[in-house]
Amino acid sequence: MRSIDLLDLLMTSKPGNSIESILQEERSFSPPSEIADSSSIGDLKIYQEMVAEAKSDPKAFWGKAALSELHWFEPFNNVLDWSNPPFARWFDGGKTNISFNCLDRHLSTSRADKDALVWEGEPGDVRRFTYRELHREVCRTANALKAIGVRKGDMVALYMPMVPEAAIAMLACARIGAPHSVVFGGFSAEALRDRLIDGEAKAVITADGGFRKDKAVPLKTAVDAAINNGACPSVESVLVVQRTKDPIDMQPGRDMWWHEVVSAQEDECLAEPMESEDRLFVLYTSGSTGKPKGVVHTTAGYNLWAHLTFKWIFDIREEDVYWCTADVGWITGHSYIVYGPLSNGATTVMYEGAPRPSNPGAFWELIQKHRITIFYTAPTAIRAFMKGGRSVPDTYDMSSLRLLGTVGEPINPEAWMWYREVIGGNRCPVVDTWWQTETGGVMISPLPGATPTKPGSATLPLPGIEADVVDSLGQSVKVNEGGYLVVREPWPGMMRTVHGDSKRFRESYWEYLKPIDGKNIYFAGDGARKDKDGYFWIMGRVDDVINVSGHRLGTMEIESALVSHQVVSEAAVVGRPDDLKGEGIVAFVTLESGTQFDDQLINELRAHVASEIGPIARPDEIRFSDALPKTRSGKIMRRILRALASGEEVAGDTSTLEDRSVLDKLRS
Ligand code: WTA
Repeated sequence: MRSIDLLDLLMTSKPGNSIESILQEERSFSPPSEIADSSSIGDLKIYQEMVAEAKSDPKAFWGKAALSELHWFEPFNNVLDWSNPPFARWFDGGKTNISFNCLDRHLSTSRADKDALVWEGEPGDVRRFTYRELHREVCRTANALKAIGVRKGDMVALYMPMVPEAAIAMLACARIGAPHSVVFGGFSAEALRDRLIDGEAKAVITADGGFRKDKAVPLKTAVDAAINNGACPSVESVLVVQRTKDPIDMQPGRDMWWHEVVSAQEDECLAEPMESEDRLFVLYTSGSTGKPKGVVHTTAGYNLWAHLTFKWIFDIREEDVYWCTADVGWITGHSYIVYGPLSNGATTVMYEGAPRPSNPGAFWELIQKHRITIFYTAPTAIRAFMKGGRSVPDTYDMSSLRLLGTVGEPINPEAWMWYREVIGGNRCPVVDTWWQTETGGVMISPLPGATPTKPGSATLPLPGIEADVVDSLGQSVKVNEGGYLVVREPWPGMMRTVHGDSKRFRESYWEYLKPIDGKNIYFAGDGARKDKDGYFWIMGRVDDVINVSGHRLGTMEIESALVSHQVVSEAAVVGRPDDLKGEGIVAFVTLESGTQFDDQLINELRAHVASEIGPIARPDEIRFSDALPKTRSGKIMRRILRALASGEEVAGDTSTLEDRSVLDKLRS
């Protein structure tokens, strides 16, 4: 990680979550009795008892949960091995399978003919799968994977639109013990290639394309661009779902149509008993240094954490219809569209499209149509709806809703209030859930029947999660003082390592802070403060990761993309507060001498970044400069660039700046 100027960063205003607004936030909402009275955790006391139980004997707490919540082919004999931190082993000796836990175990219950997955395509086509039907599809797909040569332990990459086959493919991989690596469909061919190479993927599952914002977005062409001409030698086969029916190239011997291969398979495929610590998936995420890291999650611990958190936070009931608007390409889609809901036997809704000018009320229409009871989305979406005004949501019947959730970035109190009032009719609790790709599942969140909520706060850590706010020596800071958000004890859903780079895992997450007691504590880059009630207020990233509309991007990745263009000699990228997206991307660029800079070049560079990483990384603004502000030792002073990018005064010490005239030039 590059060095962090913590206090400095905490002082830069994140949208709505400035220190002033947080300290002034006095509103609080008790859990409504309709939820609390029938909830299994219907009182703060019950939550506190669970916290105390987990604290007094963590192994007993997690062991009991694992036995009661998961099916085991063979029982585990050790709940946690933490003898070699930060490398944890959970539930050693046990054998289980998440695909079995999500499907087979429901078939012998009344859930067999309940909807497991309800999918709506953007053009309005609907597909439903009961648990029995989903089980059959997953079995056939698992058999298809075997038929094309995928074996236990082989990595399978998914580059998919939001169609049912994305979830089916994940469950099929898990069923036969082939770890999946889902690559968000909005990433470019270049970004896909990097991930295929790093993961040594043996097969790729994709589609001709998908529908989004009234357009057909191609995918298979990007797969071709990533792997053709031997660019990814490990990839032997490509399975293609037909969705848009746009013409694509199919390479004989390598590319196969999903519908042809899958329909030819048997309806039954026994779930492979997997060791608890066998890999379930790798998911790439941005950090502050180098290329995106492959976050590794393993079978039993991840399953337990996705299951338990879903059950606790969404207070799930048999008749619920639950919808999370994330994409399966992100961890939220993994844990809270696919694994958490299905492991609990819930009905999970999946939507291919997005709100768009031709249908700004797309989300509300879906809630009305499918009588959705639990809705989970990102603050950036809420801010966009807020801007559009309440007249759009007000035309829909959303009386089915009983619970609302948010995830992905800090939510400002005003957006939280709007969500509660306009979407939730002042009756639905709002659960603001803080977590990360690395944590596997939610870590800090209200429990809707138990925790009084405050707008803008993720409230309290879940039972068993020893979260804290500390200084760089790992010591708890005082009430309302900013610090690093850390977790002091291991938990089942924690990432196990960085794919192929255990040193990076140790250094970036466990050794960044230097606790005086020498203990390992987990830190993944957020700043926070805790108020007098122990409530957590997340301040956002304090490292060089920016959060654009809930998407995590490393400034260094964008910088590398820029300098890979022939006219760019140096680039520095910073975030600046953005009312809608949370953060916008500003790039400061120096050019090779003799290069003419004009609007055409700006457009070219923005397009270049989009093709290197994906459209989500396209800078909002590019500024040219003769030089960048650096210290005498050559370090770019990002603090200065951040202030300039957001139009603020450059505060603090600038005496370490090597050439002060740079500052004046940048200002002008
Ligand atoms: C941010 C997404 C404030 C945070 C699940 C974290 C949040 C990063 C919240 C992880 C929240 C996520 N309040 N910030 N409720 N939830 N974040 O890995 O900065 O895509 O470190 O996981 O999103 O992003 P990731």
